[in-house]
Amino acid sequence: MNKKLLKSIIFASLHLFLIFSCLYLICHSSQQETRFVYNGFDQADLFIDGIAKILPGGLLLLTNSTELQMGHAFFKQPFDFGPSSSLSFYTHFVCALVPPKLGGVGGHGIAFVVSPSMDLSHAYATQYLGVFSNNGTSSTSPLLAIELDTVKTVEFNELEKPHVGIDVNSPISLESSLPSYFSSVLRKNISIDLLSGEPIQVFVDYDGLFLNLTLAPIDIQKPNQPLISRAMNLSEVFQEKMYVGFSASTGNMLSNHYILGWSFSRSRELLQTLDLSKLPQVPLPREVKKKLYLSPLHIGLVVLLVIPVVMVLGGMYWYRRKKYAEVKEWWEKEYGPHRFSYKSLYKATNGFSKDCRVGKGGFGEVYRGTLPLSRHIAVKRLSHDAEQGMKQFVAEVVTMGSLQHRNLVPLLGYCRRKGELLLVSEFMPNGSLDQYLFQNQNPSPSWLQRISIIKDIASALSYLHIGTKRVVLHRDIKASNVMLDSEFNGRLGDFGMAKFHDHGANLSATAAVGTIGYMAPELITTGTSMKTDVYAFGAFLLEVTCGRRPVEPELPVEKQYLVKWVFECWKHACLLETRDSRLGGEFVSAEVEMVLKLGLLCTNAMPESRPSMEQVVQYLNRDLPLPDFSPSTPGIGAFMPVSAVASSAIEVSRLRNSSVSMFVTHTILDGHGR
Ligand SMILES: *[C@@H]1O[C@H](CO)[C@@H](O)[C@H](O)[C@H]1NC(C)=O
Ligand SMILES: *[C@@H]1O[C@H](CO)[C@@H](O)[C@H](O)[C@H]1NC(C)=O
Ligand SMILES: *[C@@H]1O[C@H](CO)[C@@H](O)[C@H](O)[C@H]1NC(C)=O
Ligand SMILES: *[C@@H]1O[C@H](CO)[C@@H](O)[C@H](O)[C@H]1NC(C)=O
Ligand SMILES: *[C@@H]1O[C@H](CO)[C@@H](O)[C@H](O)[C@H]1NC(C)=O
Repeated sequence: MNKKLLKSIIFASLHLFLIFSCLYLICHSSQQETRFVYNGFDQADLFIDGIAKILPGGLLLLTNSTELQMGHAFFKQPFDFGPSSSLSFYTHFVCALVPPKLGGVGGHGIAFVVSPSMDLSHAYATQYLGVFSNNGTSSTSPLLAIELDTVKTVEFNELEKPHVGIDVNSPISLESSLPSYFSSVLRKNISIDLLSGEPIQVFVDYDGLFLNLTLAPIDIQKPNQPLISRAMNLSEVFQEKMYVGFSASTGNMLSNHYILGWSFSRSRELLQTLDLSKLPQVPLPREVKKKLYLSPLHIGLVVLLVIPVVMVLGGMYWYRRKKYAEVKEWWEKEYGPHRFSYKSLYKATNGFSKDCRVGKGGFGEVYRGTLPLSRHIAVKRLSHDAEQGMKQFVAEVVTMGSLQHRNLVPLLGYCRRKGELLLVSEFMPNGSLDQYLFQNQNPSPSWLQRISIIKDIASALSYLHIGTKRVVLHRDIKASNVMLDSEFNGRLGDFGMAKFHDHGANLSATAAVGTIGYMAPELITTGTSMKTDVYAFGAFLLEVTCGRRPVEPELPVEKQYLVKWVFECWKHACLLETRDSRLGGEFVSAEVEMVLKLGLLCTNAMPESRPSMEQVVQYLNRDLPLPDFSPSTPGIGAFMPVSAVASSAIEVSRLRNSSVSMFVTHTILDGHGR
């Protein structure tokens, strides 16, 4: 060898040494980087591929919820794991796995990777987590992966549920575990739901001998017991330059995979703590919050609770419906305000309580009530079965309400229920006249009061017969239907049997209604007319003057029938003796005599011989003298009780003070009425 060659070899060697020295220096300078921390990735200069990206706000999104995707993010500088350096590393990161529906399924998971290359583009998504290839090895050279796997893969012998594991070169974990953390406070392991969407802290500590994996919820300090602690010699795995980063993948099952913050160091002492308060917020799916888990026990309890409540509510509804049920028909609409709701009447009368009952008759009961605005009303409940003719009847009731006369009890309206009709009128505070006439505990009305009431009723009846557009037949005139207002004025009330017809029209096929003793004999033959009202008024005159009912079966035979008895007394010239003994001496004999005679005139058996109500008013006011008639005038005093003729079955004694209705179909007269 010549010197020149030797020289050049030495020179080259020197050069090489220099080059290697320089290379060493360069390498060494890169080795200075032994730790980093990211509290959010806003300023981070990461190597990113796949669908990974850094979102405004600093979230590192590895995959969104798109099918069959993967994403990677690596710290750009490699770390030196060469033979001369320690193999240890420590990392702490916060991730969140957010399925499209919280509490639902998501996939596939996140892996922390220590890899010799940042290029994992040939790896597979789904259960390979974007780290491994489908032949079950790492897609590049040997690598370490810490997986947070949310889908069980049977071929990898994986655990049932979302799990965590340590993988070396293969998706088949060396060791895996269900996610949990050890609570030093509770002294027990508490499981962690990987798919809760909540941030999860992950600690990976490797000191060259043991690899410890620890999980914790975001608000828990690092547990002092690791979830997995495994002895590992990674010298075969780690090459001189290793990159650290994350991979995530989706398959048919999807999740948004986020990394919120990341700290890494080669030594435990230099590991910087993450500032958890600075980490970015994870967006959660909006619609569903926390799915309510219903066990069969819960459902059973709910059903047990709900059924009685529903039954009670249903029962209450049904009861109220039934309680306040009414009969309503289309044609009643036009009567608007005249129709009362049953509920309002029910409330006004305290539920038709006994305390509110002021009267009871053959046809129904009368209740006192108070409507809102302290309007006092009387409610008469009539039972009715016949739906037929109801329309016309209601029409008449409503028309009745429009009748204006100071001696009528104002009828306010009505209400209908099944089998029931309620008539609402103004309440008369002083009750009905019969209470004063026949009940000794009440003060006996004076003659002045009596004649005044008689005139009131005559005036009202005259108005009904001739003063209105249509003839109104009251059909049930009697002392108990004469009401007294606060000034003791007589007011004709109870139109429960009233009937309308046009002036001049004949009535036919009318039911004979009324009260025995007040019913004209022709009622069962020719039916209702103005004259039958006059007959009843005549009986009323005698009743008021004599202070007794038209028929009193308890009395001696000669006195039983008032008309007959008064007539007999007149014949025997002792007419005045029939007057009410309670009148005392304070009366005008001529007036009493006139009223008694008028009573007989009105109760003439022959309807055509009876005066009209107009005439009656004139006689009472002394505007006209009574016509000439004597006990021998035909029809006078010929009392023929209707009951005796019509139905011997009717027990007169029992029914003598109550209205009866005898539905007799008349065929004698055919007409245009009902
Ligand atoms: C908690 O889990 C760890 C690891 O799975 C186990 O070694 C330990 O015995 C468990 N501790 C309790 C109290 O269950
Ligand atoms: C791993 O955990 C075990 C048990 O807690 C502990 O003794 C060991 O020091 C830990 N090693 C590292 C590297 O944290
Ligand atoms: C790890 O394995 C390598 C070779 O396989 C060996 O030289 C080394 O001593 C091992 N380290 C430990 C800590 O056992
Ligand atoms: C008739 O009147 C008497 C006495 O006023 C009474 O006791 C009886 O109950 C009444 N009859 C009817 C059916 O209302
Ligand atoms: C009943 O009539 C009398 C007059 O006889 C009167 O003084 C009294 O105030 C009336 N009663 C009521 C409750 O209005």
